[in-house]
Amino acid sequence: MEFQPIASLLHESQHEKKVRVRGWVHRKRSSGGVAFIVIRDASGIIQVAVKKDRVSDESMRAAEEALMEAHVETEGIVQKDRRAPGGFEMRALDFRIRHSAKPFPISRDKSTEFLLDIRHLWIRSQQQTHVMKVKAQMLESIRLLFKKKGYFETTPPIIVSGACEGGSTLFTFDYFGKKAFLSQSAQLYLEALIYSLEKVYAITPSFRAEKSRTVRHLAEYWHVEGEEAYMDLDGLLKFEEELVTFVCHDLAKKSSEELRALGRDPAELLKVKTPFKRLRYNDAVELLREKGSHIKEGHDLGAEEERLLTEKEAQPIFVTHFPKKIKAFYMSEDPEDSKTVLCNDCLAPEGYGEIIGGSQREDDVKKLEARLRTEGQNPNNYEWYLDLRRYGSVPHSGFGLGAERLLRWIAKLEHIRDTVPFPRVINRSYP
Ligand code: 4AD
Ligand code: MG
Repeated sequence: MEFQPIASLLHESQHEKKVRVRGWVHRKRSSGGVAFIVIRDASGIIQVAVKKDRVSDESMRAAEEALMEAHVETEGIVQKDRRAPGGFEMRALDFRIRHSAKPFPISRDKSTEFLLDIRHLWIRSQQQTHVMKVKAQMLESIRLLFKKKGYFETTPPIIVSGACEGGSTLFTFDYFGKKAFLSQSAQLYLEALIYSLEKVYAITPSFRAEKSRTVRHLAEYWHVEGEEAYMDLDGLLKFEEELVTFVCHDLAKKSSEELRALGRDPAELLKVKTPFKRLRYNDAVELLREKGSHIKEGHDLGAEEERLLTEKEAQPIFVTHFPKKIKAFYMSEDPEDSKTVLCNDCLAPEGYGEIIGGSQREDDVKKLEARLRTEGQNPNNYEWYLDLRRYGSVPHSGFGLGAERLLRWIAKLEHIRDTVPFPRVINRSYP
C-alpha cells in the first residue's frame, strides 16, 4: 500500500478507509493502554491511536518507545472523531519506528537564543512550517504577476565590484587578491538588461552589513527587484501597488489556512485595493509633526516615523519625492525641484513600515558622476554603469521589494528572523 499525505486523510470521504502514513512524531501522550501519537508530514498532522488490543506486542512497544521527532510508519483505519485535533484520528493496526530520536531538546519555555542555536531543529515547528509555506506561495505569486506583465526573469551577479546603496553596509571580501563585495541590490545590473529585454526582474539574495539589531533588518535577505524601460515614477507606483495587491489577494486565496494559523485573517488581505494613498515627503513630515514627532526637515524616515504614519492604516501607503541628499545617487532629480528626487517608499500598514524602495533613474551622466562623488565613491568604478547613459539611454524606473519585509507584514510576524529558516543577523551566522 502507498503512503498517503496526511492532509488527504482529513476528509469525510476517508472515514473507515485503511491507509498508510509516514512522518515524524510531533506530540505524544499515553493513557490506559492507548498511545496517542500525533504524526506530522509536510502536508499536515494527524493523531494516531495505538491500542494494545488492536496491534501486535511489537507495534505497542514501538509506540511506547517512540520519542518526539522519531521517524515512524503506521497503517490504520481513519475515523471521524470530533475530539481529535483536526477532527480525524487513525486507529493503528501496525506501528513501527524507522529512525529513532534522542530526547528532543526543544520544549516550552526555552529562550529565543537557545532556539536560534538549534534553528535546524526549530524549523520543524508548525509555526515555522506555516511561514515557509506562505513564503513559497508568495514567491510563486510574485513570479506570476511579473509573467502577466511581460517581464523576463534574469540572473544578475551576487559578487560585485561597487556599492549600489552606499559604502556603509557593504560586505567586503577577498576575490582572488582583489577587494569585492556582496551585492546589496541587483538594480544596476537590471538597468543594463533593459536595453535588450525592456522589462526585467530578479529574485536574489541581497546583503547589508546592518550593525543594528532590529525586528526588520537582516544581513542577508531575498530581494525582489524589477526594472522597466520607458516607465516614469507614476507608472512605477501603479506597478508596485498592483504587485502588492495581487500578492495579497493570491495569498488570501491560496494560503488561507496557514495565514489564519499565524494570526492573519485572509479577509484583511482581500480588502487591500489600488490605488494606495500617496504622500509627498514634505506632507509626511508635516503629518508626523501633527502626530507629535520631532522629525527634522530633510531627515530620513526611521522605523518610528514609519510606524506613526502607518499604524492606523489598513493597507500600504506611498511616500514620494524625498530630499535628494538622503537618497541614492541613481535617483532622478525632480525637474520641478532639484532638491528632491523622483522616488518612493512603499510602507506596509499596521506600523510595519517600509517594504519597497523605488525610483525613476537619473539619465544625465554628469549628474550621476557628481552624485557619486558626493557619496564618496570613485566614478571610475562605475564606468560600465555610466556607459548605460552613453548608448541609447531611455527613461526607466525600478524598485526593490524586501521579500521578508512583505512576508512579515502579511503573516503578521513580530520579528523578521521568523521569515527566514536560517536568519543572518549581526551576532549570528550559525547554524
Ligand atoms: O530601499 P533599498 O535599499 O533600495 C534598493 O536597494 C534599490 N536599489 C532597489 C531597487 O530600486 N532595485 O532596499 C529595497 C528594499 C527595502 O524597501 C526593504 O524592503 C528591503 O529591500 N531591505 C531589507 N530587508 C531586510 N533586511 C534589510 N537589512 C533590508 N534592507 C533593505
Ligand atoms: Mg529604502
